[in-house]
Amino acid sequence: MKKKLNVGIIGLGYVGLPLLLLINKKFNVFGFDKDINRIKLLKKGISYNSDIKNSELKRLRSNTFYSNINYNKISICDYIIICLPSPLKKNCPDMSHIENCFIEIYKYLRKNQTIILESSVYTGATKDIFEKKINKKFKLGKNFFLCYSPERIDPGKRNIENQTAYKNITKLISGHSNKCLKKIKFLYGKVFNSIYECDSLEIAETAKLLENIYRSVNIGLVNEMKILTHKLNLNIHKIIDAAASKPFGFTKFLPGPGVGGHCIPIDPIFMSWLAKKNKSETKFINLSVQANKNVTYWITKNILQRLKKTDKILVLGLTYKKDINDLRESPSLKIFKKLIVKKYNINYKDPYIKNINVNGKIYYSTSTNNYNKFDAILLLTDHSDFNYKKILKEGKLIFDTRGKYKKLNSSKIYHL
Ligand SMILES: NC(=O)c1ccc[n+]([C@@H]2O[C@H](COP(=O)([O-])OP(=O)(O)OC[C@H]3O[C@@H](n4cnc5c(N)ncnc54)[C@H](O)[C@@H]3O)[C@@H](O)[C@H]2O)c1
Repeated sequence: MKKKLNVGIIGLGYVGLPLLLLINKKFNVFGFDKDINRIKLLKKGISYNSDIKNSELKRLRSNTFYSNINYNKISICDYIIICLPSPLKKNCPDMSHIENCFIEIYKYLRKNQTIILESSVYTGATKDIFEKKINKKFKLGKNFFLCYSPERIDPGKRNIENQTAYKNITKLISGHSNKCLKKIKFLYGKVFNSIYECDSLEIAETAKLLENIYRSVNIGLVNEMKILTHKLNLNIHKIIDAAASKPFGFTKFLPGPGVGGHCIPIDPIFMSWLAKKNKSETKFINLSVQANKNVTYWITKNILQRLKKTDKILVLGLTYKKDINDLRESPSLKIFKKLIVKKYNINYKDPYIKNINVNGKIYYSTSTNNYNKFDAILLLTDHSDFNYKKILKEGKLIFDTRGKYKKLNSSKIYHL
């Protein structure tokens, strides 16, 4: 039997929608998004997220979803969870989505509600955005509560039916005060299997940034190593596999065509922005950002050097990561677009992206499985659905940027 607590979730994207489904197992939920098309789809039980099946949405009540014109429903929510974009604008954190939403919901706020921010933000942002305005209407920590809990979802790996993978990811929680912390502990303690209490909002905000910087630095490192070992005629994947046999002190990170998504290309820059503001430096972080950009240029350059404009080319995978439909900052998409601009004869196949508009022209994912029709295949995103045996058998020339064929020394495979 569900508890009588109402939880509103604002921003139903890669973070908000899975969270809504998880919380709905225990509490009443209301989902808000300014994208009216998304709300229409959700109301019909149609998913736009590759990790969520329509059947999961069909289980929800019909009055679950609202656009931002119905923010009056916020007043019946005990918890308001904000899962909005936090992009960069001219290399500075752009918190305007969160700030504007807060302005819109402000008049519907009432005593004893709790706001939880889930977006990835710069250190200090939660206080900067909410503290002053909340205190104008309420007494923060006494009759209104503010919390921060960074999302750690791993898109493409959500266990769809029982959500075990998702709810097993330890959830960092933090509060503006101890009373705030108690509020978030009550809710998230019931929906996640494991929670970790941070001492302050800032510790939780910075921990999230550190997690993504750690990935950016380590991916940057293996991408840099890849460019060097390629010159030495050694396969980086074989080197990483050998190093990873060490039972301690080595964590495996994989090189690829670059980094994408909403976290790794963005969060390190929040930190370097903050460093500059505090008259400090983040050389290491800046280098990793550069190394991850360089590898995309290096791969593109290698491909361009080896192909003729008349060659019929097939790009496999456009999304930034395997088994998801997210194109944001995707290095595979950048390479695809570059080849189009250079007027190469190009097609693509991606089970998650049916069509794509590049400079006003619509490209459709090819349905063909006859790989011998192409002069070259560029494996950019290694979706599980691809038939790698068939691609290997029929492909005339394969550029492998993901180490799928790392064990093969064949003249038709070009390891990049
Ligand atoms: N995608 C991930 O894997 C991931 C993982 C961890 C953290 N994050 C962080 O979580 C936050 C959200 O990311 P996401 O990937 O879910 O973004 P998203 O773009 O997938 O979803 C954001 C949603 O918010 C809606 N929206 C935008 N402005 C709005 C407004 N003013 N009012 C109402 N709705 C609005 C959009 O229509 C969209 O549906 C970001 O800070 C991101 O860095 C993302």
